Amino acid sequence: MNAPIGIFDSGLGGLTVAAALRERLPHEDLVYLGDTARVPYGTRSPATIVRYARNNVAFLRKQGVKMVVVACNTVSAQGLDGLTDGGDVPVIGVIRPGARAALEVSSGGPIAVLGTPGTIRSGAYVQAIHEHAPDREVLPIACPLFVPLVEEGWVDHPVTAMVAREYLAPLKGSGVDTVILGCTHYPLLRETIGRIATEITGHPVALVDSAHAVARDVEALLVRTRLARDPSASGGRRFCVTDAPERAGDVAARFWGESLPPMEHVDVMVSPL
Ligand code: DGL
Repeated sequence: MNAPIGIFDSGLGGLTVAAALRERLPHEDLVYLGDTARVPYGTRSPATIVRYARNNVAFLRKQGVKMVVVACNTVSAQGLDGLTDGGDVPVIGVIRPGARAALEVSSGGPIAVLGTPGTIRSGAYVQAIHEHAPDREVLPIACPLFVPLVEEGWVDHPVTAMVAREYLAPLKGSGVDTVILGCTHYPLLRETIGRIATEITGHPVALVDSAHAVARDVEALLVRTRLARDPSASGGRRFCVTDAPERAGDVAARFWGESLPPMEHVDVMVSPL
């Protein structure tokens, strides 16, 4: 089926998931929506997060997408039910794939989850890990300052390293062997988080994000639902933001891994379909 795959995040972090989709499914058309006018979501109430997410899904459905990828842990953590208002477009989130990926690489020790306050408060990662490994110790850590630092482009900045040292302090003596980067913004901080986690624990720590696991699940779902596109096609991409497209350029390119065509400015403040 030729319709595009819709992907959204509160901001630009979800481009890390879109990039994994581009890599795995280069023939699929992608429409990315970053709700940059309302980022961050992670510090807001569950009701507000769900309301924003419903606007985003409604917008993507109007673009004729065949599937919606919620490339935002904070939204995925609130549950995906009810986002489509009963529509028949499949919706896939990032929490379960991320939890599974962590269990695949962990050697059995405790797993730390870094996320926004909304994601951590929901307990969604703990639940997803315990579905597969009920006795596994999980150490959830809310990191509210990481998203604004990344959106600002401060990925290699000393201030970011200081903040990371503060957030990762509970890893000391915890036995944690795997850290889930439970926010689509955090892969940009991979190097800083990895370095400081190793410094604090005194041993190497595996860092896991859900982007590649999600891409794998999307491929499987496309096949299962017979929505996959002919693999000889060449995929088109559209990038939409809800605020100041001209400000998105540099940071967006870091997430996407290469330069992007100009972003479209869109309005998602429509009532859900
Ligand atoms: N990138 C989003 C996530 O994966 C959240 C960022 C935010 O809006 O707080 O959780």
